[in-house]
Amino acid sequence: MKLGPATLGPLTLRSPLVAASGTVGSVVDVAGAIDFSWYGAAVAKSVASTPWQGRPAPRLAPTEVGMLNGIGIQNPGIEAWAREVGPRLRSVDVPVWGSAVGETVDEFAAVASGLDGAGVEAIEVNLSCPNLEEGSIWSFDAGRSAAVIGAVRAATGRPVGAKLSPNAERVVDVAEAVLAAGADWVVLTNTALGAAVDLETRRPVLSGVVGGYSGVGMKPLALRCVLEVRRALGAVPIVGCGGVRTGHDVIEYVMAGASAVAIGTGHFERPRLARRVHAQAGRWLRRNGITDLAELRGVAA
Ligand SMILES: Cc1cc2nc3c(=O)[nH]c(=O)nc-3n(C[C@H](O)[C@H](O)[C@H](O)COP(=O)(O)O)c2cc1C
Repeated sequence: MKLGPATLGPLTLRSPLVAASGTVGSVVDVAGAIDFSWYGAAVAKSVASTPWQGRPAPRLAPTEVGMLNGIGIQNPGIEAWAREVGPRLRSVDVPVWGSAVGETVDEFAAVASGLDGAGVEAIEVNLSCPNLEEGSIWSFDAGRSAAVIGAVRAATGRPVGAKLSPNAERVVDVAEAVLAAGADWVVLTNTALGAAVDLETRRPVLSGVVGGYSGVGMKPLALRCVLEVRRALGAVPIVGCGGVRTGHDVIEYVMAGASAVAIGTGHFERPRLARRVHAQAGRWLRRNGITDLAELRGVAA
């Protein structure tokens, strides 16, 4: 059974599953490894206005549960991205969303405009990358986040999602601010801040010391954000993201208030897990006499 269409703000997704940014490359370059027909959308790795080198190695560290990454958004810059990826966007069997990152409001707007010109279906604004210098995580601050979304909104007519950090002190305030500034949905959440120490070198494992924690252990952290935003703001469009591996995880996020659910780190363990996720969620829905996943949306909130 395939999970049916999902409404996310102005979009109708053919499936409620989204492939999360940074875990499926530029989408067009991993189409052989992942069967995208199970997804409603796939989000390309975040791109900036100019090329970013990313951090030196080591940039990845497995942990007992989940993983840490401190890649620092290595990317070719929007011009090269649009040239190389843009013409291939129609070659994949899934709507591709671009992901914009930047160090200034103007940079975000320039990237959004470039992604729009390249032909992406929608633009996710990465306000939550933990790998930038000097604590500059945009979504820790509702006002700064709203300024970015306002500028992106002015730069593109495409649907816009705002991706937030689970480490924000008051995620509800940030969600409310970005929705008021014109975001069509919020993505809850990006990775959580994390670190690991190497016993041999007696040093932090990641070259950047602090990185982003993702995988199974993320689920309660991101789900808490979904529940809080749903309870405070009502039925606003939410993409739940963090630790999803199973159909039951998807149902949990929908009960908490998500309209769509993204899979990230799960792809590294099992690139084709989306099919199993559909099957398991479908069995649960049948057993419980539910024909449309949307019936469950927010019931736990
Ligand atoms: C290796 C790696 C790279 C990532 N790169 C990005 C990125 O470029 N932009 C972004 O918005 N999120 C990025 N993420 C975060 C994921 O999209 C997702 O929000 C997060 O990992 C939580 O979901 P998960 O537990 O299913 O992985 C990255 C995650 C990983 C593991």
